[in-house]
Amino acid sequence: MQIAVLAEGKSGERRVSASPDTIKAYVKKGLSVVVQAGAGAGAHISDDAFVAAGASIIKTDVGLKTADVVLSVRRPSEAALKSLKKGAVVAAGLDPYGDRKALDAMAKTGLTLFAMELMPRITRAQSMDILSSQSNLAGYKAVIDAAAHFGRAFPMMMTAAGTVPPAKVFVMGVGVAGLQAIATARRLGAIVSATDVRKATEEQVKSLGAKFVFADVADAATAGGYAKELSAEDKAKQAALVADHIKGQDIVITTALIPGRPAPVLVTKDMVESMKSGSVIVDLAVERGGNCPLSKPDQIVEHMGVSILGTVNLAGGLAGNASPLFAKNLANFLDLMITADGALNINFEDEIIKGTLIARDGKLVHPMYKA
Ligand code: NAI
Repeated sequence: MQIAVLAEGKSGERRVSASPDTIKAYVKKGLSVVVQAGAGAGAHISDDAFVAAGASIIKTDVGLKTADVVLSVRRPSEAALKSLKKGAVVAAGLDPYGDRKALDAMAKTGLTLFAMELMPRITRAQSMDILSSQSNLAGYKAVIDAAAHFGRAFPMMMTAAGTVPPAKVFVMGVGVAGLQAIATARRLGAIVSATDVRKATEEQVKSLGAKFVFADVADAATAGGYAKELSAEDKAKQAALVADHIKGQDIVITTALIPGRPAPVLVTKDMVESMKSGSVIVDLAVERGGNCPLSKPDQIVEHMGVSILGTVNLAGGLAGNASPLFAKNLANFLDLMITADGALNINFEDEIIKGTLIARDGKLVHPMYKA
């Protein structure tokens, strides 16, 4: 059986979906691994390092023809998809909520497609969850980028020439990224507050030494561990509380997402205008419409002295860490479908397989695509 690791192509993606360690593990199972030339360059993993781990390097998409399983960080290019054999398994970040037309076209190729973003939130699947492994890094990077952009320091400093006050950081959305953002901002010495619509987050925020800011809204937690949309009345309550709190903040990190929906608007234009000149907002939800309507993908928007950073792929900015974690998530996932003697054996009744399988035999099969 053969595994192919794609180079991410022109997307600007720096991450790679395999590491020397995961390749060694595949080879140990008796699998052969081919890696597209330069796949690891953005993460500073050379072709030689992949070869040393037991892979062969292929220079063109033609070499993909024999692959049984194809790994990628993002959706493979059309050319790569066309080169694959029918029924081959693709496991990648396939952006299952994005561009539906392209998804339909991908399904029609007859490939068996797994969207890793749809990993169920169950204990058994934790080690396969790309959203967790990548969001954690994104939360860290958001704070580092904010600190680099902020024209002042984060920690309080008492010097002979006077006292430097600590920065005030407000984190909105306390999932995986938000928790890491809180922890990072605290380590840098900021005064941190945070808000979420899932009540369970209060304890987590407090345990990290931050203040919890909570509007009196109905708990929006779902059984799957995600949030659902607030009612109009609760949205208004939350907005009033945030409007009051945000005025005094230097840095705002927004991470709020609702699966399959546009990101909720949490920081309105009026709120941005109420902030002090020099403040910085980092909108991690920018790719899904943004938590701030002024943010723009991969741009720094300056609005009345406030900078709004909309980097889409923050985890990609830490490709050296993000890649091995992503690769390990995929390797753990493949363990589900590869037998001890290296054969492909997919149990389509398994909850994890069912949860992530989006297309098979030429059709989109995931329940979320049924109108
Ligand atoms: P996410 O990326 O979907 O959303 C980020 C945060 O935004 C969430 O905490 C959500 O409650 C919050 N949010 C949504 N609407 C909001 C609003 N209007 N105002 C303020 N905040 C809002 O969430 P993420 O990071 O994927 O994590 C969600 C939960 O799932 C966490 O409790 C996490 O621990 C859990 N989880 C469980 C896993 C497992 O058991 N395998 C794996 C990963 C996460």
